[in-house]
Amino acid sequence: MTYHHFVGDGLNRSEKIQQWVIDQLLNSKLPNEARESSIEWELKHSSGVIQMARLLAQKRGMEEELGEIAAAMHDIYVITHGSYENHAQKGAEIAKGILKNEGRFSQQEIGDIVDAIRCHSDKHIDSKNELIELIKDADCTDCFFYGDRVYDYKPPQMLKHYYMRIISIRKELGLPPKKYFSEQLSIIQKSGGIRGEIDE
Ligand SMILES: [Fe+2]
Ligand SMILES: [Fe+2]
Repeated sequence: MTYHHFVGDGLNRSEKIQQWVIDQLLNSKLPNEARESSIEWELKHSSGVIQMARLLAQKRGMEEELGEIAAAMHDIYVITHGSYENHAQKGAEIAKGILKNEGRFSQQEIGDIVDAIRCHSDKHIDSKNELIELIKDADCTDCFFYGDRVYDYKPPQMLKHYYMRIISIRKELGLPPKKYFSEQLSIIQKSGGIRGEIDE
């Protein structure tokens, strides 16, 4: 059978969730004016993070399915409510309900996906959980492809962790090092005493 391209009844459980996420955006009643990021950007970002998660999962020898589902849903609160405030925690709760309702996920799988969504903003923490780290890295990689300065709004003590992540991911993927990232990281590290919030 040839690939269905999301047409017809043959969608697997991961594709069903991805379709649901896209439908939230296509049918949203919340206009761009009421959103911190536009519907267009959310569509690009959720799709981009899925692809980055697949790429990194393959590189790391991980099974891809839970990664692509967590990637699709990682910003689900922003997608449905337009706000980034505490969106990882709030999104985890939304995802839990949707995954339970879908009916094809075990308790363990739901727990793993929900944990990855809940922790995805904690880029300053290196957890031992490979799915959690996969989603943080996929998110970070997709965002940095929109521009080197995409995270400039973050306080330096948080921003440095994004630079450390992208430097390490680019190395892992065999991409050439970007001078901008290492320079910015070293500026922040040298300025040491700058304090910043790390709750974004
Ligand atoms: Fe997020
Ligand atoms: Fe994101």
